[in-house]
Amino acid sequence: MTPTTQAREISAASRLDNVRYAIRDLACVADEVVKQGHKVLPLNVGDPLNFDFQTPPHLIEAVYQAMRDGKNGYAPSPGIPEALEAIRGEAARKGITTVQDVFVTSGVSETVDLCLSALVNPGENVLTPSPDYPLYSAVLCKLGIALNAYDLNEDDAWQPELADIERKLTPRTRGIVLINPNNPTGSLCTRQMLERIAELVRRHNLIVFSDEIYDKLILDGTPHIAFASVAPDVPCVTFGGMSKNYLVPGWRIGWGIASGEAATLKAYTEGVHRLLRARLCANHPEQYAIKAALEGPQDHLIEVQRKLRSRRDLTQKWCEATPRVSCVAPRGAFYAYPRIDIAESDEVFVKELIRQKHVMVVHGSGFGQKPGTKHFRIVFLPDEKTLTKAYAAIGEFIQER
Ligand SMILES: Cc1ncc(COP(=O)(O)O)c(C=O)c1O
Repeated sequence: MTPTTQAREISAASRLDNVRYAIRDLACVADEVVKQGHKVLPLNVGDPLNFDFQTPPHLIEAVYQAMRDGKNGYAPSPGIPEALEAIRGEAARKGITTVQDVFVTSGVSETVDLCLSALVNPGENVLTPSPDYPLYSAVLCKLGIALNAYDLNEDDAWQPELADIERKLTPRTRGIVLINPNNPTGSLCTRQMLERIAELVRRHNLIVFSDEIYDKLILDGTPHIAFASVAPDVPCVTFGGMSKNYLVPGWRIGWGIASGEAATLKAYTEGVHRLLRARLCANHPEQYAIKAALEGPQDHLIEVQRKLRSRRDLTQKWCEATPRVSCVAPRGAFYAYPRIDIAESDEVFVKELIRQKHVMVVHGSGFGQKPGTKHFRIVFLPDEKTLTKAYAAIGEFIQER
């Protein structure tokens, strides 16, 4: 009998139609340029290890030791006990006093996925910032949830726009995402803003997801303020992880800290744990670096902050000196989100910049922006010499458009 061949195309779920991740989607354009023999400067991906940043050696030693000690099987679903204890200690240092639960995940990416999946039913929604880190919208699209974005106000140093949050709230809104320090803008929420958001959340029975993955990368000497420390009574999951603060994005280690009143959170955290068990566990040996990171020497942070401050200043000076570019100075993380005044779309601008100048940044429309405005996101991780060269190329490109 001749085997039957399957003729019909296997289609992807239509839920995925709006799943986009502009930061990596641009790679196809870069591949074309690399095939022509050029080197592309990646100012698109927030990976410090692409540049002159090294993982603290004691973290590598902790993971190596764990592997040699045979910690290569599955870990407990919520995470290994010593890591959970270290994360509780970190929560206390962040001023979070009402911790009800902590759990370890494969990167904050998985925390985002689990926490949103455990919350929303069809027809409900979660408020996400615009611009936002695109994983949030991607996960919500995957869950079949209509997006409900609130504006960050560029004229107010990218603070959340409270009036817009009020406007966007519906009876079926279940939660709100804060990204602080913010990706892509590098902004920090003020204490007053966190207090006002807390007030609003209390009135509407929401849960807050406060993504604080960059909380140790503050560039202006002010302490980071955790949302949950300002609003201990409000149901909140604070997201944290090793990728950025501890320079190990490839290890895929993140965590969630659920805080608020025990009775309010019980059913929700039980749901999160059902999902944690279903996916077995986070990477096991790497979890042994969590205690070493959070409780060991923090010396690397001084050097990281010094480099980032200098590179932020250089970036800001370039933005100020370049016609048709303006930028709210970033205060945390390693991103700048300049506004550009150009005729074409920012996506065309960015793709042509890769093709013509071999510099890769990400278009603002990949993160969301107010209609009529155009931006691009710069990752200012490279050294000063490389950044200067990149900015000269971008400046030239803007002049030529
Ligand atoms: C705001 C924000 N949240 C989460 C993540 C994902 O981090 P992880 O490497 O822990 O999955 C990133 C990565 O760039 C990020 O910028």
